[in-house]
Amino acid sequence: MEAWRVILTLCLLIHVGNADPVQDKRALLEFLTLMRPTRSLNWNETTSVCNTWTGVTCNHDGSRITAVRLPGVGLNGQIPPNTLSRLSSLTVLSLRSNRISGPFPVDFVELKELAFLYLQDNDFSGPLPEDFSVWKNLTSVNLSNNEFNGTVPDSLSRLRRVQSLNLANNSLSGDIPDLSGVSSLQHIDLSNNNLNGPVPSWLQRFPSSSYQGIGVVPPDLAHQQLAAAPQKPKPHFLGLTKTVFLLIIIAVSIVLLAVLAFVLAVCYLRRKLSQGDGIVNDNKLQKKGVMMSPEKFVSRMEDVNNRLSFFEGCNYSFDLEDLLRASAEVLGKGTFGTTYKAVLEDATSVAVKRLKDVAAGKRDFEQQMEIIGGIKHENVVELKAYYYSKDEKLMVYDYFSNGSVAYLLHGNRGENRVPLDWETRMSIAIGAAKGIARIHQENNGKLVHGNIKSSNIFLNSDRNGCVSDLGLTAVMSPLAPPISRQAGYRAPEVTDTRKSSQLSDVYSFGVVLLELLTGKSPIHTTAGDEIIHLVRWVHSVVREEWTAEVFDVELLRYTNIEEEMVEMLQIAMSCVVKAPDQRPKMSDLVRLIESVGNRQASLEANKPKSENEASETSTPSET
Ligand SMILES: *[C@@H]1O[C@H](CO)[C@@H](O)[C@H](O)[C@H]1NC(C)=O
Ligand SMILES: *[C@@H]1O[C@H](CO)[C@@H](O)[C@H](O)[C@H]1NC(C)=O
Ligand SMILES: *[C@@H]1O[C@H](CO)[C@@H](O)[C@H](O)[C@H]1NC(C)=O
Ligand SMILES: *[C@@H]1O[C@H](CO)[C@@H](O)[C@H](O)[C@H]1NC(C)=O
Ligand SMILES: *[C@@H]1O[C@H](CO)[C@@H](O)[C@H](O)[C@H]1NC(C)=O
Repeated sequence: MEAWRVILTLCLLIHVGNADPVQDKRALLEFLTLMRPTRSLNWNETTSVCNTWTGVTCNHDGSRITAVRLPGVGLNGQIPPNTLSRLSSLTVLSLRSNRISGPFPVDFVELKELAFLYLQDNDFSGPLPEDFSVWKNLTSVNLSNNEFNGTVPDSLSRLRRVQSLNLANNSLSGDIPDLSGVSSLQHIDLSNNNLNGPVPSWLQRFPSSSYQGIGVVPPDLAHQQLAAAPQKPKPHFLGLTKTVFLLIIIAVSIVLLAVLAFVLAVCYLRRKLSQGDGIVNDNKLQKKGVMMSPEKFVSRMEDVNNRLSFFEGCNYSFDLEDLLRASAEVLGKGTFGTTYKAVLEDATSVAVKRLKDVAAGKRDFEQQMEIIGGIKHENVVELKAYYYSKDEKLMVYDYFSNGSVAYLLHGNRGENRVPLDWETRMSIAIGAAKGIARIHQENNGKLVHGNIKSSNIFLNSDRNGCVSDLGLTAVMSPLAPPISRQAGYRAPEVTDTRKSSQLSDVYSFGVVLLELLTGKSPIHTTAGDEIIHLVRWVHSVVREEWTAEVFDVELLRYTNIEEEMVEMLQIAMSCVVKAPDQRPKMSDLVRLIESVGNRQASLEANKPKSENEASETSTPSET
């Protein structure tokens, strides 16, 4: 046994040495020569597949090709047999948005490891493969917008991992197979085919767009038909009458709901309790720090990469170009780089931040990313992946379609403006405070956000504040004050962005609170071109005792909030005092803000609501 291990290890090492999967490379080159894409790919026989070839990704040791992504490169004609099928370690195959014709390649059955298959938007025709169960790991399949005909294979029901299945816009006919047992299924689209109805009940769990225009009688009509055919009454479940059956269902639902509520309450409590443990865990992480095993890191990245198709392997920068051209839109230029919205193959949107002026070396950068990525909290925007190379440093986050708090406050002025109401502003403040307080616990209680401003705060699915862009000051080149885009949020003692501290975070958070209260940007110019610093302005107004003038006119329409606004103003003012050590701690701020207008008390008095909240926070955000 031991000897075997040694030999295996040696083999692996040798492979790392020449790091080129020769057989796989040959297969791909044959494929390319026969397919002749209209866009030229940089696949050169003399260069390394794993490191330079566009759209190709290898496994850790460079011994096999695991992903081929060639979206929209102008492939046309049929896929030549015995080419791609030789890449037997392939887990991701994307040939979407080309003009590939002919049947579904029969030899794809050789691709036993296939998990992600994207062939949509091509001209494939003929039947779907009879036996889908050969691809045991199949997770996401998109065959939409082709000309596949024939039936939807029953074998789909034997897939155990499939999460997304899109067969829309084909010419499929016959019966809809029973996929009710495929519990992993989260998304299905059979729309615009010629399938027989009626729509089975398992399918009705999915949005109606999933079976729109499949060529069958729509569900309500189907019901009518059943009703109109009394000569063959459907036997009721267990022979019970409809009413009794309904009553049983209702009773069971109530019991289930109660159990669910209980479980959620327990989870919520446990989470609350474990927050103290967080520090201990962070401690461990910190101690491991430099020693963190590279394998662990790699496998985690792979995990992420399997879903984020643009972030795998060394050919990334091309994919990025591709991405920027095809489906990315600039969301904004921030302090540390530009953020893009990118739509991935599985149709999820992510925000991709392209960092400029990273000062840290690879290892320090990775370590910092590990710390940031380790924070999982409903009020902290999750870092999904990152990428580091000499030329390109990227961070991938969730995308928030509502826009940032800066946009909600200052953008979209004009006729269609939706005013930001007081309750939402309070939820933003409470959420952001909780998020920042959580960040301050990280890394042994030393992590600094370093870039708190309203454009880095978003509304999460519960419409609470959620902070982003944290922990970067430590890895970036310093920004000198005059050119700093952070101006207006920067605490007076911070002369160099690397010197940001948790107390300077509190200052910046105070400025955000003032922004929420006044509706004014932290630095703005008056009609007379005078530059106004929000903090100084608020000070002067409050000193002159015109307090009411401070508040955003948009808030004046709400009644009975004056006291709360004044309380919030006091809290904000305590954050922006000059002397750092006189500012409150973030954890105290959470309590202070929650106690404004007795929110905490009313929450506690209203138990069901807080349970409700627990349930919402524990469902994973939409993917
Ligand atoms: C492949 O690369 C070699 C050396 O870099 C170069 O001389 C050759 O022209 C390239 N071939 C193609 C087809 O681009
Ligand atoms: C499927 O995935 C698992 C782990 O995710 C892996 O061990 C296995 O080799 C894969 N392939 C097949 C054919 O099951
Ligand atoms: C599917 O389309 C092909 C032509 O592309 C045709 O020959 C075949 O009969 C069709 N099969 C069915 C079941 O409609
Ligand atoms: C199917 O085609 C319709 C009309 O062309 C289009 O609106 C729809 O997005 C397509 N569905 C998918 C899943 O591509
Ligand atoms: C599949 O492809 C269609 C057409 O390009 C696209 O609209 C859809 O979002 C894709 N993804 C999924 C998960 O269906």
